[in-house]
Amino acid sequence: MSEFRDKLFSPAKLNGLELRNRVIRAATFEGMCPNGYPDERHIKLHREMAEGGVGMTTVAYCAIEADGRVKREMMYMHEGIRPQLEQLTGSVHEAGGKISAQMGHCGNFTQNPDFQGKRPLGPSRKINMSGIPFGLAFAGAMTHADIDRVVQCFHDAALFLKSVGFDAIEVHFGHGYGLSQFISPKTNKRKDEYGGSLVNRMRYPLRALEAVRKAVGDEYPILGKIGLMDGVKGGQEIDEAVEVAGLLDEGGIDAVITSGGTSSMSPNLVFRGDNILPGLIKVEQNWMLRLGMRMIGPWMFKTYPYEELYFLEGAKRVRDRMKNAKLCYIGGSTTMESLETVMKEFDFVQMGRALIKDPAFVNHAMADPDYVNGCDHCNRCATMISHPDGIRCVTNDEKKTG
Ligand SMILES: Cc1cc2nc3c(=O)[nH]c(=O)nc-3n(C[C@H](O)[C@H](O)[C@H](O)COP(=O)(O)O)c2cc1C
Repeated sequence: MSEFRDKLFSPAKLNGLELRNRVIRAATFEGMCPNGYPDERHIKLHREMAEGGVGMTTVAYCAIEADGRVKREMMYMHEGIRPQLEQLTGSVHEAGGKISAQMGHCGNFTQNPDFQGKRPLGPSRKINMSGIPFGLAFAGAMTHADIDRVVQCFHDAALFLKSVGFDAIEVHFGHGYGLSQFISPKTNKRKDEYGGSLVNRMRYPLRALEAVRKAVGDEYPILGKIGLMDGVKGGQEIDEAVEVAGLLDEGGIDAVITSGGTSSMSPNLVFRGDNILPGLIKVEQNWMLRLGMRMIGPWMFKTYPYEELYFLEGAKRVRDRMKNAKLCYIGGSTTMESLETVMKEFDFVQMGRALIKDPAFVNHAMADPDYVNGCDHCNRCATMISHPDGIRCVTNDEKKTG
């Protein structure tokens, strides 16, 4: 076996956890929790990942509390969901894989009609554009008591996720969700100790990390997904991302995943390739949101051309800042050549679309050095996040039905 294949497909440790290889299925919102509970399709999807050979699969967006959901159709951590989650983790373990949970809180970016609080809360007051159709237009600024409460939610959710059988936790520090709203100078306008300098803006995210660590113990792996850049004027840029990662490293994170873009301001930057706006408009059930996307979408949904390993340079800069934490690369690794580059530079790789295209990527690539995945980053999978059927590779399905 060549050197890179040897590294990619051999067991690797992430804190106290051994993965059978270095391929981790990225969190890609499944859209398979119709009433906030993962159903059999959700379990099948992650089991297929394990059967297809990945070292670890990641369950997307496990909201730490009910009001941490972006959409009603997301799961949030509470005892009522224990049986479904135990079935999910058990099924992945049976198939020989490991399973991680991505913990998220939406902060002020929500479109959840069941929202229970008075208003969505983030670092600073703002208009929550996508919440307008749901009567959630005005977002308030979190008080210190609000911050303390949500930090406790991170702790409790981590304890719960470990107890239902997850092998690792991935904290979402990126993509414009709650923690990244504090990190970004675009959205954090606070004048207290949670705003201003980067050290201040990182205070709440680091408290969340500390709470998660306290809940799960020293041996348990915690990954953190960060943004290399927001992709909007006045947003967080790469220099600060390097420092964000450095502070997380010093805060005891085990691996940093270097993504970019935000769901609220620059969604196409997360994946690049074909613009997801037309597909999202087609699938959206709420007419007001559809109208809003038609009117404002073209400003928000800028197109970014796809290239393999589009976050490579940023990820290298972050890696150079790491003292203890591992670096998990994400963003446009679909070819064996790309994976060779990633393995030369980094410890782990997370893959999203290539594994939606072919859940057995790892098994196929292990058996055939000339394996070609064929994901063409049409991004139609990403437009399915609001579809009642959940995400899938639309191109594969079209081929099947002729
Ligand atoms: C259908 C779909 C859903 C996604 N949902 C999430 C999500 O819930 N959380 C997250 O952090 N990233 C999400 N992403 C972004 C991916 O995790 C990943 O960052 C992105 O697809 C780039 O990796 P790739 O080139 O390997 O696909 C999603 C991507 C896709 C395609």
